[in-house]
Amino acid sequence: MRVGVLTGGGDCPGLNAVIRAVVRKGVAAHGFEFVGYRDGWKGPLEGYTMPLGVEQCRGILPRGGTILGSSRTNPFGIENGVERIKDNLAADGVDALVAIGGEDTLGVATKLADLGVNVVGVPKTIDNDLSGTDFTFGFDTAVNIATEAIDRLHTTAESHHRVLVVEVMGRHAGWIALHSGIAGGANIVLIPEVPFDIAEVCAQVESRFRSQYSPIVVVSEGATPQDGDMALQAGDTDAFGHVRLGGIGDQLAKAIEERTGKEARSVVLGHIQRGGTPTAFDRWLATRLGLHAIDAVAEQDWGVMTALRGTKVVRVPLAEATGELKLVSAEEYAEAQVFFG
Ligand code: F6P
Repeated sequence: MRVGVLTGGGDCPGLNAVIRAVVRKGVAAHGFEFVGYRDGWKGPLEGYTMPLGVEQCRGILPRGGTILGSSRTNPFGIENGVERIKDNLAADGVDALVAIGGEDTLGVATKLADLGVNVVGVPKTIDNDLSGTDFTFGFDTAVNIATEAIDRLHTTAESHHRVLVVEVMGRHAGWIALHSGIAGGANIVLIPEVPFDIAEVCAQVESRFRSQYSPIVVVSEGATPQDGDMALQAGDTDAFGHVRLGGIGDQLAKAIEERTGKEARSVVLGHIQRGGTPTAFDRWLATRLGLHAIDAVAEQDWGVMTALRGTKVVRVPLAEATGELKLVSAEEYAEAQVFFG
């Protein structure tokens, strides 16, 4: 069999580990050949390929980013997009696709599978908001980077008796904020699932100062005040209709300063959370998800995604994974709230 591989959406530590596992097992155990599609769905849409074999996968396990490149191309927003993909797959002699991506990339994979394209998905996102899997790879790396930043911010905040607001990624879900906030001992964690009350945040800031410590506030980029709009960095939307977020940390620091009179600064971790080498956990998870994905291809089990359930890797229908986002529950948020203020 000849198998195409692509990586779509925002990059994520561990993508190369998946590619390596897919190719190594595909060649060794199943005798497959591979084609690398460049830049997400743009690759099969435009017939944009690169050679992909064991040779190209040497040394990539610890490397961040993706050797295949990525984009947020949406073939369903392009005229004859699906036909062009089908034609290019046929022209390249590709029998099946392994699509590695998040809600958007796998959403496209779900629709293509319904239209008869042989696709298997692998879940990826630092946001950890895909249903069907306990964790997505890349999340652990992002949480570790954010936790290290929070640890460092504690000492400088204490020295200057300041509030430090840390803005982390998380468009719809507050998983990065929640996990890094708990791990880093944050005093307030604000997530998209629960609109925050600025008066309550300020009361918690003041209570923290009364205990002679300086508050660290962790805020997801998608968090919103109860009486305001989401902080938008740019009004433009991408091919999947998402606006570019960013700026809530700065807004929050200004509001805290105005209301409490305490100096407040903000730090945006941004793409630092997505770049660089994956943690050991993410390499392990990405590798296993890739190994199981190529087995699904070998068994011609189309329209599924590999997923972590407990310690087992299982297959779930792509539609189940992309139907609804996995959000932080009220119970999980309450665990972090014990430490607020
Ligand atoms: O989807 C993951 C994510 O990291 C979001 O948390 C964030 O809003 C988005 O990607 C940013 O993407 P880009 O790098 O394309 O602006």
